[in-house]
Amino acid sequence: MLVNSREMLKKAQAEHYAVPSANFLDMESIKNHVLLAEKLGLPLIIGLAESHLGDNINLEDAALVGKKYAEQVSVPIVLHLDHGESYETCKKAIDLGFTSVMIDASMKSFEENVETTRKVVEYAHARNVTVEAEIGHVASNFNENDTETLYTTAESAKAFAEASGCDSLAISIGTAHGVYKAKAIPEISFDSLNAIREATDVPLVLHGGSGSGDDNLSRCAKEGICKVNVYTDLYLAAMKEHDESDTSDYFKIQKAMKKGMNECLTHYYKVFGTK
Ligand code: 13P
Repeated sequence: MLVNSREMLKKAQAEHYAVPSANFLDMESIKNHVLLAEKLGLPLIIGLAESHLGDNINLEDAALVGKKYAEQVSVPIVLHLDHGESYETCKKAIDLGFTSVMIDASMKSFEENVETTRKVVEYAHARNVTVEAEIGHVASNFNENDTETLYTTAESAKAFAEASGCDSLAISIGTAHGVYKAKAIPEISFDSLNAIREATDVPLVLHGGSGSGDDNLSRCAKEGICKVNVYTDLYLAAMKEHDESDTSDYFKIQKAMKKGMNECLTHYYKVFGTK
C-alpha cells in the first residue's frame, strides 16, 4: 500500500517506536526492501537520496518501480526522496508519484530554510505529499566538506516547524552520516531530544542511523524519534556477504547481498521497536 508518511509517523509517535527509512541505490533494492517489509508485516519508508541519482538509478525509474511494489503489498510503504537539494528536484519527485520528500536546506540560514521548505510544503500538500525538513545540521563522514555538526535547539525546532509547516523534522543530536571515525559509537544528546520533543509536536527524524549503537537508537525511538534513516549499514552488510561468498555466480552473489541487507534491516526493525 503506497502511502504518504503522515499517519505512519503519527502512529509511531503515539506508540513510541520508529519506522526505518531504508535507502535504496538501485531497482533491485527497492523490490528487496518492500518484499521484506511485507514478509515481516511491518511499515517501511524507502528513501532515494538526490546524491545517489546517476547511472544506477534515476527518479523516473525509482518512481515506476517503487510505486509498482508499494502498491502490490498490504503493508504501508512510503516512497521518499531523501535529501532533496532544491525545490525543483522535490517538485519532480512529487510529479512522478513520490509520496514524501525531504527538502534539505539545513546549511542555509534559518530564514532561507523556512522559505525553501514552505515553497515545497505548498506544492506537496496540494498533492497529498508529506514533507520532511532539517534544522540544525547532521554532518557527513562521506564528505570532507561537510563535517560540522550543528546541534538542533528546542527553540529553533519549535520556531522552524511552526514557520515552515513541515510534516516531520530531522534534528541533529549527535549522529552523522556514514562510518564513524575509529568506529566509535557517537554520544547522543538525549537532553536535547527530550527538550525538542517537549517543544514541538512535529514527528522527529534521525539521520545517520548506521553505526550509532543499538542502545542509543532504541532509546531514541522510545523517547521521540519516529523515523530513523539507515543507508551505510545496509550497504556494508551487502558488501560483506559479497566479499565472503566464494562464488563468481551472478545470481548467487545477488542472493548473498540481499541476505546481508535483509538481516541488517530486520535487526533495525527490532532495535526501533517498529509495529
Ligand atoms: P547512514 O548512512 O549513516 O545510515 O545515514 C543514512 C541517512 O541518514 C540517509 O539520509
